[in-house]
Amino acid sequence: QDDQFKKVISHAKEYGYVFQSSEIYDGLSAVYDYAQNGAELKKNIRDYWWKAMVQMNENIVGIDAAIFMHPTTWKASGHVDAFNDPLIDNKDSKKRYRADVLIEDYCAKIEAKIDKEVEKAAKRFGDAFNKEEFVSTNPRVLGYQEKINETLSRMAKSLENEDLADVKALIEELEIADPLTGSRNWTDVKQFNLMFGTKLGASAENAMDLYLRPETAQGIFVNFLNVQKTSRLKIPFGIAQTGKAFRNEIVARQFIFRMREFEQMEMQFFIKPGTQVEWYNHWKETRLKWHLSLGMGAENYRFHDHEKLAHYADAAADIEFKFPFGFKELEGIHSRTDFDLSQHEKYSGKKLQYFDPEENKSYVPYVLETSIGLDRMFLAVFSNSLVEEELENGTTRTVLKLPSVLAPVKAAILPLVKKDGLPEVARKIVEDLKWDFNVDYDEKDAVGRRYRRQDANGTPFCITVDHDTLEDNTVTIRYRDTMEQKRVKIDDLRDIIKQEVDV
Ligand code: GAP
Repeated sequence: QDDQFKKVISHAKEYGYVFQSSEIYDGLSAVYDYAQNGAELKKNIRDYWWKAMVQMNENIVGIDAAIFMHPTTWKASGHVDAFNDPLIDNKDSKKRYRADVLIEDYCAKIEAKIDKEVEKAAKRFGDAFNKEEFVSTNPRVLGYQEKINETLSRMAKSLENEDLADVKALIEELEIADPLTGSRNWTDVKQFNLMFGTKLGASAENAMDLYLRPETAQGIFVNFLNVQKTSRLKIPFGIAQTGKAFRNEIVARQFIFRMREFEQMEMQFFIKPGTQVEWYNHWKETRLKWHLSLGMGAENYRFHDHEKLAHYADAAADIEFKFPFGFKELEGIHSRTDFDLSQHEKYSGKKLQYFDPEENKSYVPYVLETSIGLDRMFLAVFSNSLVEEELENGTTRTVLKLPSVLAPVKAAILPLVKKDGLPEVARKIVEDLKWDFNVDYDEKDAVGRRYRRQDANGTPFCITVDHDTLEDNTVTIRYRDTMEQKRVKIDDLRDIIKQEVDV
């Protein structure tokens, strides 16, 4: 697992997807830059989300609110008082950790033991193996599962009650050690606010303390009535946006899974109070379908219903994805009640109510939220796509099997040789296709090596121009995943590619 994660990180660098931020200055912890291919992949994921959420839904509109917001926003939203992580320092190593993450990692290790038991039993029983039955009856697995459940629910309860001494006691009882040094010499657990502060204004006396937004959602809440009135949308309706968010996360080596500067894709769906259960189920199902539409394997997703709820929610679930380091949160679906709008009413003194013509009365709507991290989605797609394949001739190839719709480059146009007029024909194809797709021209090295390079880059099609092309205007099209090659007319290329890469 660790090895696979390392491969993902080094492939992302080698093929121009993700670089460490300010690398020449030895980088900045938990901050990353998207390179030439990464920026394209990220944009394609964002567009895929936007299309599904905004373009395809008559009752959802998109906005782009500012990162800076009036500081009272964060008092009203609860972030000033409650947006904390429980931290613990190791007295020997002087390293700082999130206490809840230490406990979750402990549980993940037990979960790995369950996976091992399942693997062993699957081998032993062969075709007769029934996983569901095994995990629900095997005493060892049940024991492990009980330990995980007990641990996580005790942690959730302690955090909810702000009983930080008990969180520390739990770490001690489980004999959790510093992951780097093995030391168990901890300080007390303390709460730490995750928001980044900054200042607005030229002179020190008049400067206003601001925060960089820790979520995009509040930009939607404060604009709720402006959007509703100018769009004349009726409840139920949604407002979506994508944009940067900032959190001063304490993290260790998680690459783009947990960053200090990241991008969210959020949608707030405004509904009639009392209908939240129905809409909660609707959006859970709809968002899972969106993920499945990318074809990355239903077995890689699962729901996790929250026991510990954030300060704003009456129900919440995560869509978890199987990352190289195990199942982790990819997206959250939250039933936020009227918490945010009521708070903003209270703090701003302005009414944030919707007049319902059917009911002939005004009320503060309830809100159903879907919130996904774009960087986390990037990591899910990228890590799931990176495979090493044994070929029939005994060699291996590295291939990035990105869903075609998301691939940064859709097709590479390759002249077989750099002479006889082949480059000119290849260039002409590039000039023609570039109006519709991001395409690449590559004439360096033998064609086999160029195929491998494009495979590793995630390009779904290679189009090769050879001497026959000059005779009959046909080219070879090679499919990345199957390596199948077909002879097709140059005139048909656009339609063939479109069929695969259009949503
Ligand atoms: N508005 C609700 C909200 O922000 P959240 O669960 O804190 O909820 C939503 O965040 C999503 O944002 C997460 O599911 C995750 O995908 C992404 N996310 C949160 N913190 C992140 C971080 N530090 N780095 C990358 N993505 C993050």
